[in-house]
Amino acid sequence: MEEQTLSIIKPDATKRSITGKINNIIEEAGLKIVAQKRIHLTREQAEKFYSVHAEKPFFKDLVNYMISGPIVVQVLQASNAVSLYRSVMGATNPEEAKSGTIRAEFAKSLEANSVHGSDSDENANIEISFFFKAEEIVG
Ligand code: CMP
Repeated sequence: MEEQTLSIIKPDATKRSITGKINNIIEEAGLKIVAQKRIHLTREQAEKFYSVHAEKPFFKDLVNYMISGPIVVQVLQASNAVSLYRSVMGATNPEEAKSGTIRAEFAKSLEANSVHGSDSDENANIEISFFFKAEEIVG
C-alpha cells in the first residue's frame, strides 16, 4: 500500500527560487509528487496549521516566518513516504542535518529550515486534508 505525506517548501526556499532543486532531491529519492500548489498562507491558516506548537516560545516567530512569503504545499507518495521524506529532509536543526539532505544543503536556520514534512501517518492525513481535496491528488 502506498503511503502519502505532506511536504511544505517554506518561504526561505521559494524566495531563493530553489523549489526545483528541492523537487529534484525529492524525486531522486523515489518520492512521487502527486499534488502540488504554490500559496501564500494567511495568519489564521498558519496559526491553525501549527496549532500543536501554540504554547511553544517560537510559535509567534514561526507563524510570522511562514506568512513572510509564498510556500509550495505538496503531497508526496511512496511505500514509506513519511519516514522516507523525514530522512530526505534531514534534522529540523540544519546544523544537525546529515550531508546530502535538503536541510543540510539549503536550510538557513532552525526557523528558516526550507521544508516541512509530516511526522506520522496520522498527522500526514490531517495535514494533507488541510490543504488538498481528494480530487486534487493524482497518483
Ligand atoms: P517544522 O517541521 O515545520 O515544524 C515546526 C517548525 O518550527 C520547525 O519545522 C522549525 O522550522 C520551527 N522551529 C523554530 N524554532 C524551533 C525550535 N526551537 N524547535 C523546533 N522547531 C522550531
